[in-house]
Amino acid sequence: TERSLVLVKPDGYARGLTGEVLRRVEAKGYTLAALQVLTPGRELLAQHYAEHEGKPFYEPLVEFMSSGPVTAVVIEGERCIEGFRALAGATDPTTAAPGTIRGDLGRDWGEKVQKNIVHGSDSPESADREIGLWFPNL
Ligand code: GTP
Ligand code: MG
Repeated sequence: TERSLVLVKPDGYARGLTGEVLRRVEAKGYTLAALQVLTPGRELLAQHYAEHEGKPFYEPLVEFMSSGPVTAVVIEGERCIEGFRALAGATDPTTAAPGTIRGDLGRDWGEKVQKNIVHGSDSPESADREIGLWFPNL
């Protein structure tokens, strides 16, 4: 079975949405393989977001992601990488469909960075890489 790295970002954590996100993950049938709460440092985030380095939203993104606690979760289940991204919805909460985490709960728009509650790995390669970064002992 597949694994994916899910993050409840600082906006989701601060709004008390960690349980709601995990509820949806478990309701879908995915299991939780590992979980930790931490405030990520810039070094970890630079590696996590290496593909976005140089883009206009990169600095605000790293600033935002290091601004407070995040819940990092390894989820497990058949095709859970694609499946979690479907649960999360589109990146921009203003266009994310109702029924999705971002569509139902996203409400921070018009800012320099999209505060969109969650992150989910976007491919098996990303998932392996990201799980290694956030859970080096796994
Ligand atoms: P993640 O699951 O968080 O990786 O979201 P994603 O895969 O839907 O988006 P992507 O990896 O392309 O971008 C990572 C994060 O950068 C997003 O979740 C947003 O918070 C932010 N971001 C991406 N694109 C933009 C953009 O065009 N403008 C702004 N302001 N922020 C962006
Ligand atoms: Mg992404």
